[in-house]
Amino acid sequence: MLYNDLMNVSMRQNWEGLSKSFMEREMADLKGRKASLTARLGSHAFNSMLDAAANFIVGAKGVGHKTELYGVPYSLSEDFVSAYRLHPLLPEELEIAGEKVKVSDTLFAKARKVIDKFGMETLADSWGHQSPMTLTMQNYPNFLTRVNISGDTSGDEGMRNMAAVDVFRDRERGMVRYNEARRQYGLEAAKTFEDITDNKGWASALKSVYKSVEDVDFLVGCLAESPRPRGYALSNVAFYIFIINASRRLLCDRFYQESFNAETYTAKGIEHVQTTTFKKMLLRHYPGLADSVGDVSSAFLKWTGPPKSSGKAA
Ligand code: HEM
Repeated sequence: MLYNDLMNVSMRQNWEGLSKSFMEREMADLKGRKASLTARLGSHAFNSMLDAAANFIVGAKGVGHKTELYGVPYSLSEDFVSAYRLHPLLPEELEIAGEKVKVSDTLFAKARKVIDKFGMETLADSWGHQSPMTLTMQNYPNFLTRVNISGDTSGDEGMRNMAAVDVFRDRERGMVRYNEARRQYGLEAAKTFEDITDNKGWASALKSVYKSVEDVDFLVGCLAESPRPRGYALSNVAFYIFIINASRRLLCDRFYQESFNAETYTAKGIEHVQTTTFKKMLLRHYPGLADSVGDVSSAFLKWTGPPKSSGKAA
């Protein structure tokens, strides 16, 4: 979903940190240019730049150092919950062992029957060869606009339109609207609907629903937003929320910082965490999927081998 090389390097840096020598060199370079930078930018801007660099360096340290809470008790933000409302990724149908299965027939109490019918290995094999849908406007799965969360299909009790619930919950919980989120994350605010999206149809759809660009709900703005970096499923503003929370999760949790050591986890435990990948974990449980996963560097990518289960139920 965030598929480009820079992202790959950045995620590794997030975990491993930048080398101390690299960070010290960068700071020394900045301080060495104090006179020329102050003359050009003024001392206030230079000091802010130094502060930002120092903060960046704290954020660039990776796991295994010292917890830094930045004055706020450990928590994940409400914005993170909103950005994680990724329901449009869901397809209407899945192909499992050559059979088309409606996602609505796999929910809640029905899930067990699907697992009993196909088996987990076949399900994993099928998922590995399918892609999610796109996080764009007018792409909400129909089945989720009428989903019964009570598990009782005989009545309307428990019936939800999740497209509405997603927006309603954000409003109920005081999540800021899309344009205010842009401002608060240091991104340029949109002045017109066309600043949000290049898609003329979507811009006019937004105009028909919202009086002002300030009213656009967070989720709706994220789904409409363009352009997106190559290979990115997420909008830029959602991406900001993800990276801030991903870093915070590592920096503010002592089990990733001062307690991320052999004393807490045992040497074997640390080695396990440092060397386990999703692909290794998957194959540890389902060694029969090795050919099907193929040579992908990460099992989160679409698998490249021949689907094991194609055309036959387990
Ligand atoms: C068939 C699959 C799914 C169903 C039936 C489903 C259904 C639901 C329901 C009923 C809620 C609670 C609504 C409420 O607040 O009243 C919910 C919340 C949520 N869902 Fe899903 N969902 C599905 C898949 C996903 C996926 C794939 C993601 C993200 C990758 C996701 C992310 C969320 C988030 C972030 C919330 C809000 C949680 C919170 O309020 O703390 N859901 N979903």
